[in-house]
Amino acid sequence: TQAPVNVTVTGAAGQIGYALLFRIASGQLLGQDTPVRLRLLEIPQAVKAAEGTALELEDGAFPLLAGIDIFDDPKQAFEGTNVALLVGARPRTKGMERGDLLEANGGIFKPQGEAINAGAADDVKVLVVGNPANTNALIAKAHAPDVPAERFTAMTRLDHNRAVAQLAKKLGVAVTDIRKLTIWGNHSATQYPDIFNAEVKGQNAAEAVNDQAWLENEFIPRVAKRGAEIIEARGASSAASAANAAIDHVYDWVNGTPEGDWVSMGVPSDGSYGVPEGLISSFPVVCKNGSYEIVQGLEINDFSRSRIDASVGELVEERDAVTKLGLV
Ligand code: NAI
Repeated sequence: TQAPVNVTVTGAAGQIGYALLFRIASGQLLGQDTPVRLRLLEIPQAVKAAEGTALELEDGAFPLLAGIDIFDDPKQAFEGTNVALLVGARPRTKGMERGDLLEANGGIFKPQGEAINAGAADDVKVLVVGNPANTNALIAKAHAPDVPAERFTAMTRLDHNRAVAQLAKKLGVAVTDIRKLTIWGNHSATQYPDIFNAEVKGQNAAEAVNDQAWLENEFIPRVAKRGAEIIEARGASSAASAANAAIDHVYDWVNGTPEGDWVSMGVPSDGSYGVPEGLISSFPVVCKNGSYEIVQGLEINDFSRSRIDASVGELVEERDAVTKLGLV
């Protein structure tokens, strides 16, 4: 076994944190050969709750868990971090305008970006889960000029997994029969789950479905609004499924995607598919040897083009708003 990997989790006392930490401790984030040292970041009022979770983690007697430290200071929490999971964020409350939301989150993700820049390990990988995830990642990235931009990613894996599950259900196949599904754009209601480039048992998925009405009126809205459906049913927002997606995102980034498949990640655009360079937008990516590449050369039909453009347009608006606020 190797030296422990430092994993920083922000919002550790929240509901995603509660589902996520035990899976990290059990080795599911990085693999069964890799011990982890957890560094938890919370706001001062929630440190006690995080300490409670740490007691339970201790009670798990996890063989791979090398230690737990709890902080309320980002500078300390990101010291030496190899994997940073930015989960804590400021939720939208009643009457809050988008500008207010972006500003409040800027107050969180700017200092966290600075702390990552100052103290993280050279190989740091960052996943932003806290919403608005893509733009929060953009803010953090803007304040970490010494960290390669591609290390800042935003989570669209929950959307990806939701889309795979809904497509498998529609076609009466196993989730493992679905490959090459893509979420494009923003982690928001404008996101576009693309089945035109996806495969089911090797056949084109859109052809297998052959039902444009289902695609437009059921599949896309169901995936995009699944978060609201969960809140309605559970009385609380998605937590275990979000934690599961965070595990999948980092595991695949570190360990690689399977041959013949790809995953969706919000990553800084290099201009691929007409997405303005630097925006953090969801793309199909292949991971190998701890890094990822945007899958090139996919055919984008007119329907897909207009959906991708709409979601990317929203990301441009968010970027312009945080630029105006001086956050990037
Ligand atoms: P929660 O409200 O249960 O927990 C959030 C935690 O973050 C709280 O304990 C809070 O004290 C902490 N926190 C707030 N500001 C902080 C700061 N500056 N530093 C450290 N910790 C801080 O929320 P939950 O359910 O765990 O969700 C967390 C975030 O994940 C939300 O923004 C939610 O919208 C987002 N989310 C994103 C998904 C995605 O697919 N990208 C899916 C589901 C949730």
